[in-house]
Amino acid sequence: MAEKAKKKRILVLCALPYTNAIPHVGNMAGSHLPADIFARYCRLRGYETLFVGGTDENGTPTEVAALELKATPRELTDALYAVQKRIYDWFEISYDNFSRTSRPIHHRTTQEFFLRIYGKGFVSKGVLRMPYCEKDRLFLPDRYVEGTCPVCGYEHARGDQCEHCSSLLDSDQLINPRCKIDGSVPVFRDTKHLFLELGKLQSKLEKWIKSEKRWRRQVSSLALGWIKEGLKKRSITRDLKWGVPVPLDGYRDKVFYVWFDAPIGYISSTREWAAKKGRPQAWKRFWLDDKAKIYNFLGKDNIPFHTIFWPGMLIAHGDYNLPYDVVGYQFVNYEGDKFSKSRNWGIFCERVVESELRPDVWRYYLTYLIPETKDSEFKWEDFESRVNNELVANLGNFVHRTLTFAWNNFGGVVRTPKYGEREKNLEGRVDEQLNRVERCLDEVKLRDALTGVLAIAGLGNEYFQSSEPWVLIKKDRESCEKVISFCLHLCRKLSVVLAPYTPEAAGRIASMLGLREIPSWDEISTRKDEFHVLKPEILFKKLDETELERVRSVVTKSYDLKEIFAGRRTQSHGTSISSPPGSE
Ligand code: MF3
Ligand code: ZN
Repeated sequence: MAEKAKKKRILVLCALPYTNAIPHVGNMAGSHLPADIFARYCRLRGYETLFVGGTDENGTPTEVAALELKATPRELTDALYAVQKRIYDWFEISYDNFSRTSRPIHHRTTQEFFLRIYGKGFVSKGVLRMPYCEKDRLFLPDRYVEGTCPVCGYEHARGDQCEHCSSLLDSDQLINPRCKIDGSVPVFRDTKHLFLELGKLQSKLEKWIKSEKRWRRQVSSLALGWIKEGLKKRSITRDLKWGVPVPLDGYRDKVFYVWFDAPIGYISSTREWAAKKGRPQAWKRFWLDDKAKIYNFLGKDNIPFHTIFWPGMLIAHGDYNLPYDVVGYQFVNYEGDKFSKSRNWGIFCERVVESELRPDVWRYYLTYLIPETKDSEFKWEDFESRVNNELVANLGNFVHRTLTFAWNNFGGVVRTPKYGEREKNLEGRVDEQLNRVERCLDEVKLRDALTGVLAIAGLGNEYFQSSEPWVLIKKDRESCEKVISFCLHLCRKLSVVLAPYTPEAAGRIASMLGLREIPSWDEISTRKDEFHVLKPEILFKKLDETELERVRSVVTKSYDLKEIFAGRRTQSHGTSISSPPGSE
């Protein structure tokens, strides 16, 4: 019973990617991967864990992209959802549910949410002057209006947010506005809209932000900065067709602002998960019971929405849990510059899945790029040395030499004798590292934790080397068995601590050790009586120059949306005509 009461309940959420923004590896390292590592860790700990996400499909970016591709938003998002899903599956991002904000369950959840906060008086009516393109006869989306930021003076601020100072904006606040597509100057027209009264929520938000001590400093200070400026009401409706319709007379021809409905996607994805499980009420365990702790993983530009706007919505609603930790990251760069799809600068996930390099190799290096406290940078030189020196020469080598020795000299069967002083000392040092790994993982310091994992392999290598089992085997078989047994136990520990980072390799280590599965975190220090190891295989291959060049030439070329979309279309419609199934 006491054990049960201690069992934590964790909901892991990753910011929902826009469907038409196929991720690059910076996006992977900046939200999906850390969320996944943390979720995997929580599961290993035996916490009741749920990890959900989905694609953010509504709003103008989709409508405009579809227009350009001469497709409907439905056709476009259907195709791109499949592309996105395949990428996260390939990277082994272990979403328990990956939904779409265009699904009926999301529409319903959003509309209910809105009616609730409307009923409680947190929504007001008003008129906005919006940029309108007279040529195309449509209101221009915020993101397609560019101008000078009224806060910091940056000249290329977007209509919804300034990339430079992160301030949230409305497009009529921009100085010298222009249309981002054709550069023309939009006219401003009046149109009726609904607003979230953030001002009414300010004091509660402030109290909440100040009470959250575990957030990263950069997250709290950004949030408190906006509070200090004073929160103003923000429009939550748009003159568009594609999106969640507003369920209120007088506004039924409008849809919700994408940033209003998208975070509600966290709730609808949880509901969808529960429905699929056949336990339709189970989502409430995570949203209505304050025992559950919610961790949000997201990039820097999403911080205001997750510390002000979304929590404001949640406070207005009144029933739901607020985020427990807002894990907001900095940016990832590529070889000295920002990632850019249009300039073809970066590494693109739709190519990485064709790289013929194990996902674990990417996951391993990308973990070092998680921009926990400052911007990070992908560098090929660094990639090569981390993979070759750490993953291959330290980790892989330790596991491989241990297993090979056990296989060749003990026929795979190694018993556990009494350990001596040396082993006990070493065990103490290993435990120190294990504690560090655990502490860091609990605090979501995922990179520091991985350093601890590496240190454990390093200790193992030192011990193996200095014990010289290849000498011992000839004169003192018993001492030799002690060394190998100790090393096998270290490998077993490594399979546990590696599991959040390189799940596939961790599984292979466990199976080569003859274990049925990766042990749970609580069993990490259990001593086994004996091991029956299987014939070892190499864990990770060294990357030589040729291989590296091959990979590099594959992954650094982006597809444009048109190609991806055309590819998906022929895949789903054209195959049976030109080529019978199975003929390649
Ligand atoms: N689609 C947004 C982006 O990529 C993130 C939405 S996060 C959510 O910047 F909270 F709205 F879900
Ligand atoms: Zn600015």
